[in-house]
Amino acid sequence: MEQRSIVFLTGAGISAESGINTFRSAGGLWETYSIDEVCTPEAFRRNRKFVLEFYNKRRAELHDKLPNPAHRMIAALEKDYGSRIINITQNIDDLFEKAGCSAVMHLHGELTKARCEFCGHTWHIGYKAIYGDEQCPDCGNHKTRHHVVMFHEEAPLYWLLYATIDRLFATESMLVVIGTSGQVLPVELFARAAPVSILNNLDPEPAIDDRVFTHVFYEKAGVASARIDTLCREYLEL
Ligand code: APR
Repeated sequence: MEQRSIVFLTGAGISAESGINTFRSAGGLWETYSIDEVCTPEAFRRNRKFVLEFYNKRRAELHDKLPNPAHRMIAALEKDYGSRIINITQNIDDLFEKAGCSAVMHLHGELTKARCEFCGHTWHIGYKAIYGDEQCPDCGNHKTRHHVVMFHEEAPLYWLLYATIDRLFATESMLVVIGTSGQVLPVELFARAAPVSILNNLDPEPAIDDRVFTHVFYEKAGVASARIDTLCREYLEL
């Protein structure tokens, strides 16, 4: 029989205590910026420079940000249980990597990578700004963009997410959802597939019916992480 595993599905809230803005909370990024101006292919076609600058700022802001206890909890579980910990995130920051996680599925891309618009090759750029004319190390062309999935764009890793969620039905897996409003991914639907599930957000969200979750914590992820860690370890040791 397959061993029990844990699927973490996280969003902006897990990085909030590290000083990174969420999108939809009060004062969140989408209150300050219009999605239509910085986060769609149409916006990028209209004003390439402005969109690249928006992501350059986000990337620069990441430089001195540190992981918090919630990122470290998942990193420690991965260290102890290896591939039984599946780390799926909507976040484009690198705080899981800074915490020591080695296998992170970034559904919406990564700020610290650039992508070639000709061949699709991606490469690590750290916290550097890009201006759109950098040379692709693979095909040699000069049309570079941020490696971030914008609204109305395909998210190539979603098939892997859905394959993983399918496995929740078939195996004894626990789903742990932290810091997402559920407005982009149907986390409530995913929880219905899982035999055991945990939800941790600051507040109840209109898009998430928390009655489908086994455990619900409405508090900061850094605070809830100790209890979530205990529940995960108990589950994995059963
Ligand atoms: N601890 C736990 N949860 C928190 C904390 C915290 N310290 N701070 C905020 N939250 C919760 C909020 O209550 C909210 O439910 O995190 C959630 C953040 O929701 P969003 O801002 O909508 O972020 P997210 O769900 O990750 O957005 C999904 O939308 O704009 C796109 O591509 C972008 O990946 C992003 C996607």
